[in-house]
Amino acid sequence: MHLLADDVKNLHKYEIRILRALEKMMRHYTWVPEDILKVAVHLSATETKYRVDNLIHRGMVKSDAVPYKGYTLVFKGYDALALSTLAQKKTISALGTMIGIGKESEIYEVLGFGVIVLKLHKIGQRSFQTIRINREYMPEKTHYPWIFASVKSAEREYEALRALNGKINVPVPIDINRHVIVMSFIPGMNLHRCRLENPDGIWQEILSQIKSAYDAGFIHGDLSEYNIMYDDAIVWIIDWPQWIHPNHLNAEAILRHDIETVAAFFAKKYRREYDIDDAIRYVTDKTVK
Ligand SMILES: Nc1ncnc2c1ncn2[C@@H]1O[C@H](COP(=O)(O)OP(=O)(O)OP(=O)(O)O)[C@@H](O)[C@H]1O
Ligand SMILES: [Mg+2]
Repeated sequence: MHLLADDVKNLHKYEIRILRALEKMMRHYTWVPEDILKVAVHLSATETKYRVDNLIHRGMVKSDAVPYKGYTLVFKGYDALALSTLAQKKTISALGTMIGIGKESEIYEVLGFGVIVLKLHKIGQRSFQTIRINREYMPEKTHYPWIFASVKSAEREYEALRALNGKINVPVPIDINRHVIVMSFIPGMNLHRCRLENPDGIWQEILSQIKSAYDAGFIHGDLSEYNIMYDDAIVWIIDWPQWIHPNHLNAEAILRHDIETVAAFFAKKYRREYDIDDAIRYVTDKTVK
């Protein structure tokens, strides 16, 4: 279910209060008991029921009657909380169209200081078992694994964007709230959709960015032609939540996988054969500049 500007604009302050209360109480309950919610929001029983029904109708909250009457927040309600906070802070003023959808995220164009981009991290919205193995920051037991993992994923990506800004070409991080990051708009196209005139030069440019990121303490961890954007000879690397540090136990294998994936793309589309070991040496050699 995609997010609409009206979903956020038309939220009543009591509805926001209920969403916030659920967010807080989901640390303790998977299903927040109706009685406890009523007390927490300081509203009459009728008002609470009316507002909760509105939220259920909009797909932001779910209810269950067994083994007790309770409510739970779902992604759309969490999205609404993050977006209403970002709007309140005046980071964003209008929600535009969706420009990308992945397994674990949604990307929207929005208005803020010009046209900017929102990335909503959504880990585990389909099945929690699909979480990739290197997402090792999940605690064993939590009542709200999808909230926890999505916030973590957003925080990790934001951290990489902040650290790498000015060192390599990444979107400029603007703000973060809950599982949503706000960043600058990249004007280019994804690499797999481009027809490069100078593939060798672009391969070199990509390696040079991988090297600068590595020197700054970041290995992408999910690099491919889909996470590289290209605009008029400029290369941008996006989609950073899965980065790892070069000291990580699996750093070498993950770096190799990143480089092999991009090399395989150049081999298939441009019939280029690049030496992977040479590329890895170039990236990891501290003496090369
Ligand atoms: N800052 C940006 N500017 C312009 N377009 C962007 C920007 N960020 C993302 N996009 C577009 O949205 C698409 C998806 O973004 P991204 O790669 O960050 O997430 P994802 O692939 O859905 O994530 P995941 O790997 O978790 O499924 C990109 O391929 C790109 O086309
Ligand atoms: Mg991607």
